[in-house]
Amino acid sequence: MPFKIISNATLATMRDDQSYGLIPSAAIAIKDGEIAWLGPMASIPDELTSQSAELLDCGNRLLTPGLIDCHTHIVYAGDRATEFEKRLQGASYEEIAQSGGGINSTVVQTREACQQALYAQADSRLSGLMNEGVTTLEIKSGYGLDSDNEIKMLKVADQLAKTRQIRIQKTFLGAHSLPPEYAGQKDAYIDHVCNVMLPAAFEAGLVDAVDGFCESIAFSVEQMQRVFDKAQSLGLAVKLHAEQLSHLGSAVMAAQRGALSVDHIEFLRPDEARLLAENKTVAVLLPGAFYTLNETQKPPVEALREHKVPIAIATDLNPGSSPLNSLLLAMNMACTLFSLTPVEALAGTTINAAKALGLEKETGSLEVGKSADLVIWDTDNPAMLAYQIGANPCLSTMVAGEWRKNSLSGQERS
Ligand code: NIG
Ligand code: FE
Repeated sequence: MPFKIISNATLATMRDDQSYGLIPSAAIAIKDGEIAWLGPMASIPDELTSQSAELLDCGNRLLTPGLIDCHTHIVYAGDRATEFEKRLQGASYEEIAQSGGGINSTVVQTREACQQALYAQADSRLSGLMNEGVTTLEIKSGYGLDSDNEIKMLKVADQLAKTRQIRIQKTFLGAHSLPPEYAGQKDAYIDHVCNVMLPAAFEAGLVDAVDGFCESIAFSVEQMQRVFDKAQSLGLAVKLHAEQLSHLGSAVMAAQRGALSVDHIEFLRPDEARLLAENKTVAVLLPGAFYTLNETQKPPVEALREHKVPIAIATDLNPGSSPLNSLLLAMNMACTLFSLTPVEALAGTTINAAKALGLEKETGSLEVGKSADLVIWDTDNPAMLAYQIGANPCLSTMVAGEWRKNSLSGQERS
């Protein structure tokens, strides 16, 4: 396979989360799906220019790593527009959940839907994310809440991975909400998650990681520890919806058990950030949920920075707390609502999002040997990505060395 060489690019390499790692007037060479070389145009090795190659002149446009949405619930049926209206009339997310709505109303609709119907709905949401340069996506189960329906959701995620040009990580979220058939029996449901549901999904080869919702309206720290015990006994990575609506000590528990990430964390205490850093646990901020639920308690960003906790940003795309189908808008919200810098926002959807999925050796930055997952943007300034609202400057996307269809490939642009 010949090299693909993209020249005259403004590279934001995102090799660490402290700066864009800009290389102006740069070139990047791709071979066998990987980044083979990158650097200033002036120092392209002769061996690259002397071989036949597919060439693309970028016109000094910005080239970044492919974006990574590291926390989504894109597989679900129906919508929760009625719940949105109720919240606008004063009902809280917790009140709606406690009266049988919320997550459980999506569970009813998702259980009723067949795999193909779920696939069609998720596929259209996926297109929205892919159009903005998302090359890696995490998808959680959690609206099935029994073995067959959790497996059905994970099969949809698997089908998306096989039919669309995107890398997908599948996360088992059986401990998302208490299903109605277990009303009043949280411990019995957690036993069922650990002894039946998780092993079944794992044996079907459909689980990359295990998540849970630790909150008064969902499960306790002790119950989540039991789910983590089972996950870790199967050799699976863990992560947690932690400290979203109240402080339970769940983020520290997860970090001390080596969780890849703790997500939401509005109620994390500043002095707990150190423990996240010590355990290399990523703080995943979900400004779409904060915005949608009109929350006021912000995550302790200053403490996360001080302790050098890697910060990632994701859409949390789901029908209840975050019907947000745009990772670029999540980046903008992280800046405006949580005071992140545009550098932190881009690191949050590239290198740090890769860490939140345990994929930092494969993707998340422009470095030799990593998968050639990249985006060309119609700007030369990386701050534009988080600054604009509702614009989409994504021109072309490459996944594992292949231009995505409908993006402007080398031939089409020259
Ligand atoms: O990340 N917090 C729990 N789970 C989702 C909400 C899912 C839903 O409301 O349907 C979240 O916010
Ligand atoms: Fe979530």
